[in-house]
Parts: sequence; C-alpha cells; structure tokens
Amino acid sequence: MVLLFTRNSLVLKSSKKTILTVTFPFLNSLIYCTEFRFLTISYDKRVIVLANFTINNHHHMIQIKDLHKSYQMGNNSLHVLKGINFNVKEGEMVSIMGSSGSGKSTLLNILGILDEADSGSYILDGVSIKNLNEKVAANYRNKFLGFIFQSFNLINYKSALDNVAMPLYYQGVKRKERIEKAEYYLEKVGLSAWSHHLPNELSGGQKQRVAIARALASNPKVLLADEPTGALDSKTSQEVMELIQGINDEGKTILMVTHEHDIAQMTKRIVHIKDGLIIDDNPVEQVRASLYV
Ligand SMILES: Nc1ncnc2c1ncn2[C@@H]1O[C@H](COP(=O)(O)OP(=O)(O)OP(=O)(O)O)[C@@H](O)[C@H]1O
Ligand SMILES: [Mg+2]
Repeated sequence: MVLLFTRNSLVLKSSKKTILTVTFPFLNSLIYCTEFRFLTISYDKRVIVLANFTINNHHHMIQIKDLHKSYQMGNNSLHVLKGINFNVKEGEMVSIMGSSGSGKSTLLNILGILDEADSGSYILDGVSIKNLNEKVAANYRNKFLGFIFQSFNLINYKSALDNVAMPLYYQGVKRKERIEKAEYYLEKVGLSAWSHHLPNELSGGQKQRVAIARALASNPKVLLADEPTGALDSKTSQEVMELIQGINDEGKTILMVTHEHDIAQMTKRIVHIKDGLIIDDNPVEQVRASLYV
C-alpha cells in the first residue's frame, strides 16, 4: 500500500489499484509541511482521513544546497562557486552583493536555469532542477522565471508592446490575449502611452520598465534581476526600484544582483558573496524607494 502526494491530491494505492483519492484545496501547502504528527486512513464504504501536521506557511521558493560551479578554460579550471547554500522563501526580496568576479551572475544564471551547476542541488518551487534537456529547461524558465538585465535586452525592431508580448508567444498564448496582457503590464509600469514606440525612442528608465513588464507578462514565480539599475542614473534607479518594490509588495519573489549599497537597502535581505562563498546573509530594514522619488 502506498500513499502518494501530488500537487492537489492524496492518493492511496494498493498494487495497481487506486483505493482512494482525496483532494485538498490546500494541498499546495501540504507538500511543504514540515512535520507529520500522524496520518490515519481507513476505508470501507466511507472514507476517513485524519491528518495532523504542521504547515510551513512560507514555503521555500528556492532551495540551494552545496552548489559548485567551475569553468574550464583549456587546461585550467576556475572554481567559481565553492559550495553555496541558501534558501529563499516565497515573497522574499533578496539582493546579492559581492565584488566583480565573485560569482554573482554565475549563481543567478544557475538559478535562472540558463546554466547548470557541476554539483549540489537546486529545488525551485518544489521541483528539482537537474539534468534537464533544453526543451524542459526552456519550459521551466517560461513557467517559473522572469528576467531583468542591466542592458534591458529588448528587441530593437519591435515595439514596447511586442517586446512585452514576446514571452507569451513562446507560451503558446493566442495573439489577442497576448496583446491584452502586454497592454495590461505596460499600463502597470506606467507606459501605456509608449506601447507603439521602439526601444530606441525610450529613455533608459523606460526601457527597463518595458523589460520589467516583459518579465511580469508570463506571471513568473520568481523575478531574477542582474544589476537592473546598473545602467541608470540614481533618480531613474529609484523609480525602477519603486516599481520593483511594488511588485514584491504584491507577493512576487525577487532576487537581484547589485553593486550599489543604497539599492540593496531597498530589498529585504542582503546576501554577500566572496570568492564563490556566501560570507554574509542578513535581513535589512527596507528603505522605500518612494522616499527619494
Ligand atoms: N562562461 C564563462 N567561461 C569562463 N569563465 C567565466 C564564464 N563566466 C564567468 N566566468 C568567470 O567566472 C568568474 C565569476 O564570474 P561572474 O560573472 O559570476 O562574476 P560577477 O560576480 O557577476 O562579476 P561582475 O560583478 O563583474 O558582474 C569570473 O572570474 C569570470 O571571469
Ligand atoms: Mg555579473
């Protein structure tokens, strides 16, 4: 007899036959429960399920254990990540800091399933990210992750609207719905009036807002940003941070790499990386960007 937990049900099976299936509206939380006290199941004509467990309300969105990454260059190997351990709960806003070459982007790329670690484990929203073929990896990236880059990475010959609608195309969303969603997210970042402009007709801050709208369009679980304010002046940086804070206020999990202390203070936790190891990981008293804007 085996008891199987799936995303939204609990199934009791004996050899090949399913004996019972119970669906829980809250089973999403149940799979993240920390401890079962007891679980009794009896079955005849009526079914009784008694479960007593402790639910972990804030489940871990990201769980990283002993992550290692080296780059091979000719005969030399550069050990960049040397055993990274950290967890990020749903709804957190974390900045990753460290000097140039310390491995921040390498870590972010692994978190973003753009690259794979050599060893260690990475669990994203309960799913183990390991040995994925490119198709599955692309699917997970689409489903779980939104990216924001320092250099915006917009497509120059496409309008703001088409840039935002782009990831939805890869998700197989129909054109009408793509446009509606893209308009919705452009409005969210305050750029409705600019939807038909090309990137080179926009300021740096506006470009980054388009990129943020694009990252949000597929409603990802986690937003990953590599120096999102790195190419912006300080006033524009604060405007972009105000927007990102608002997105986090709505519950989105956000990880961002930054070199700037005042930007890091606008997140809720700072992780310091040095020579491929986390040397510091502390909560911060979040500074609201709106104080500056
Ligand atoms: N694809 C690659 N091949 C070989 N070496 C690489 C590769 N990517 C990064 N590295 C090296 O790994 C180290 C860490 O790079 P990484 O980009 O993660 O640093 P970083 O902390 O993001 O730095 P920065 O603040 O300058 O962006 C660097 O020494 C870099 O040269
Ligand atoms: Mg980098």
